[in-house]
Amino acid sequence: MTAQLLSTLPNKTELKILPRHVAVIMDGNGRWAKAKGLPRIEGHRRGANTLKETLRYCKDLGIETLTAYAFSTENWGRPHTEVSFLMALFEKLLRKELKEMHQEGVRINFIGDLTILPQSLQREMQHSMEVTKNNNNVHFNVAINYGSRHEMVKACRAISEKVRQGKLDPETIDEDTISNYLYTAASPDPDLLIRTSGEMRLSNFLLWQLAYTEIYVTDIFWPDFDRQQFDRALRAYQKRDRRYGKVL
Ligand code: FPP
Repeated sequence: MTAQLLSTLPNKTELKILPRHVAVIMDGNGRWAKAKGLPRIEGHRRGANTLKETLRYCKDLGIETLTAYAFSTENWGRPHTEVSFLMALFEKLLRKELKEMHQEGVRINFIGDLTILPQSLQREMQHSMEVTKNNNNVHFNVAINYGSRHEMVKACRAISEKVRQGKLDPETIDEDTISNYLYTAASPDPDLLIRTSGEMRLSNFLLWQLAYTEIYVTDIFWPDFDRQQFDRALRAYQKRDRRYGKVL
């Protein structure tokens, strides 16, 4: 780790209490654009750039996993032009950034119901997951057409089917069983959730996985969420007293 990086952090000893897994609700792209008199899509373009920088910073710091909420099951209710723009942006970014992400050792994974996304986007997603599957510098989960309740319904159906086939004893179902049937089975639960642009809600994001996650909300719009802002979130996290419901 470089001297410059160390100097941006609270202090050297606190490095060991960095979160292993950070999740982000990237809100405020539209408001950022509006405040600057720009079209909403410009906010999404800038937001994508911020996401790229955030991922790189996680890698530099040694944060193992970043999970980003890029498109929810509810986002289909936006104007058709905006939805089409976002789908095209995801695809374009994957084509453009895959090589660099692979070189930087990023393992990319998409979570959500991908089956109803445009075919060409699905192909790029599958390709990028296949190419990067053995990378280990940083795990990057991107939630697209993701909804936590839908994820849980899907898990319940899959578990019930196993029971119906006689392959699973209902008595043995525990919290780990449920976790293993979610899209995020391969990742530990997030330690820190960051939500930009001030809203105090979870918006159907990782409801099961966030049970004991520390939540940090900032008024900053996502496109302005830079390394300094991330450091602030990390400092706030480091001051939290994580008790997991126990008296310690
Ligand atoms: C929320 O802002 C942002 C989104 C719904 C889209 C986020 C997508 C990106 C940042 C691009 C990511 C790219 C990849 C490849 C994953 P908003 O539109 O809800 O803003 P508002 O609340 O101010 O209207």
